[in-house]
Amino acid sequence: MKAHKLISALLLLLPCFPHAAAQAPAPAAARHNLMPVPASVRFNPGRLRVDKTFTVAATGAVDERLRAGVDRAVRRLEGRTVLEVARGLAADPARATLLVEAGAPGKAVPAVDEDESYTLEVGERQAALRAPTVVGALRGLETFLQLLEGDREGFYLPAVSINDRPRFRWRGLMMDIARHFLPMEVVKRNLDAMAAVKLNVFHWHLTEDQGFRIESKKFPRLHQMGSDGNFYTQEQAREVIEYARQRGIRVVPEFDLPGHATAWLVGHPELGSAPGPYTIERKPGIFEPTLDPTREEVYKFLEVFFTEMAALFPDAYMHIGGDENTGKQWDANPKIQEFMKAKGIKDNHALQTYFNQRMLKILQKNGKRMMGWDEIFQPDLPKDVVIHSWRGQKALAEAARRGYDGVLSNGYYIDLIFPTTDHYLNDPLPEGHGLTEAEARHVLGGEATMWAEWVTPETVDSRIWPRTAAIAERLWSPREVRDADDMYRRLAVTSVRLEELGLTHERNQAMMLRRLAGGAYPPALETLASFVEPVKEYRRYQQRPQTMLSPLTGLVDAARPDSAAARGFTRRVGLLLSDAPRFALHFSTLRDTLTAWRDAGPVLEALVDRSPALAEARPLARDLGSAGEIGLEALSYIQQGVAPTAEWRDTRLAALAEVAKPKAALEFPFLPALRELVHAAYERPQLEGTTPAEWRRRVRELANPPKPQPPANH
Ligand code: ACM
Repeated sequence: MKAHKLISALLLLLPCFPHAAAQAPAPAAARHNLMPVPASVRFNPGRLRVDKTFTVAATGAVDERLRAGVDRAVRRLEGRTVLEVARGLAADPARATLLVEAGAPGKAVPAVDEDESYTLEVGERQAALRAPTVVGALRGLETFLQLLEGDREGFYLPAVSINDRPRFRWRGLMMDIARHFLPMEVVKRNLDAMAAVKLNVFHWHLTEDQGFRIESKKFPRLHQMGSDGNFYTQEQAREVIEYARQRGIRVVPEFDLPGHATAWLVGHPELGSAPGPYTIERKPGIFEPTLDPTREEVYKFLEVFFTEMAALFPDAYMHIGGDENTGKQWDANPKIQEFMKAKGIKDNHALQTYFNQRMLKILQKNGKRMMGWDEIFQPDLPKDVVIHSWRGQKALAEAARRGYDGVLSNGYYIDLIFPTTDHYLNDPLPEGHGLTEAEARHVLGGEATMWAEWVTPETVDSRIWPRTAAIAERLWSPREVRDADDMYRRLAVTSVRLEELGLTHERNQAMMLRRLAGGAYPPALETLASFVEPVKEYRRYQQRPQTMLSPLTGLVDAARPDSAAARGFTRRVGLLLSDAPRFALHFSTLRDTLTAWRDAGPVLEALVDRSPALAEARPLARDLGSAGEIGLEALSYIQQGVAPTAEWRDTRLAALAEVAKPKAALEFPFLPALRELVHAAYERPQLEGTTPAEWRRRVRELANPPKPQPPANH
């Protein structure tokens, strides 16, 4: 069948297109850019104009924190609008553009039960933000800024009634600043970004095998010998805590024990379960150095240390880590074995529980609640211990059933480079969770975890943002808010807005590519960088072994997770195969993309010849070129309605299987869609007379054969 005949045949099928309804434009006002989506939002007719007469007035608990928050918001508004507006609070609440009313200042130290609710009523003459606490008002100010839009007449906010409060009380970002140290400005700008998406817990992972990053005045050898000089002074820690408090963010410090402890032992080998000496670990992984839980001197030391830290960190919670203790040093130490025998401690898990019980006493003495990773969970711990679940959701539900509070991080491991949707759809309390209401209240929320094996100050923002904004939405917004397409649409807007806070996730890629290229680079390099993703999970180290001392300035570092370009390509292939009325549009868009890939190949190879830092990109350049060629062939067959041979299909699929092998720890996430194109080219003429939906289904099945199910666990 000729193309025009096929297309007109498909046109007849238009009414049964499932996509047609889904693509009907939503009412303009409902397509807002709010992230996280408020608990309740109703748009009304009308607009509140924002121009240089913009003023803010405040009533109620107008404290220094609220004043500073309003000032930051107004400065951002100025930056975005290029309008110079008045400084300070206006005198007349009735005439201000924005009226902020806070009922109370909020807790002196931000707490897990802080009231963060607010209402925001935007009318044509004024916006009124009302909150029981200053923290709620700060959350509402972020929503106010997110509502700002523009039209021919200038800037405005749509009239709207918002009634908002978080679904979960604990919405965190953990930053491991130990494996790679992140200086103050990186921490601060990420606190700003957290506040922008209403996150409220900064979990500061301060100690690791690879670094001890907080000054101890009691035991200065800890930071002096365990950090290469890269640590936060106590003065700096207080500065971070205050910076976070200003934004309604708690700071929960983690001191990981008894494992992950090499850096503690560099200056204090006497605490170890083996004699040492110890040196700062430079590799990623799980290591043996472990505190000796059997000696009283160790607890004496820890009591002094944690008393010092408890005074420094005002939050009610303290995280003791507790993860991934190999127990090997314990097994090899005869004195520890004797101790266990004498006390009737049956295994290493029980020995760690003994350690935890001792730690618990130290923390309780200092008025702190103990938090730790899954491994600390043990039914005879008191009920005020908090379980931080990283190995699976089941542990969280199990802890909740037994009456323990828990925080979910399993599914929020942003260091593993998974797409945003994976995290977005990961719900701490999914529908049908099976917990009673009282049990469910023990699920406090979740935390994104930024483990820092492969990040530097230059790249860390790009691993955290914008994906963490989607996690923030999961933790704040109602469970029913889970439309991934709409999330991605709003995420793109949010990502750019985060830049006004100094975040570098968008802009650093171009800078890193320039450095790799040794100067200005051709668009082909941007094409490559925008269509690759770093390999997932822990494969990066296997494919490209590096240490904590290695430069993280390669193409894999410049590449970003969840390639928007690849997502766009995949979506477009789906439309080509299902949206017959606009076949020509989808066809030409895909042809342009595939042509850019094909043409990028040789240009990149020439670039690599003069830019040796890009040497590892050579095979990727070839792969991108051949992916483009294969795609163009497939597209041409599809357009002409002419069947290629089975041999064509098989050789192209074999070539794509080669392209699918990661190189330089990078992979092309568009390959499933490209395989669909190849199958579609071959199948299309043979499925003549079937509906586009049937055609698409068949192609999808061929391109993505079902994975064999693992055997059930009994
Ligand atoms: C962890 O990822 N080891 C908590």
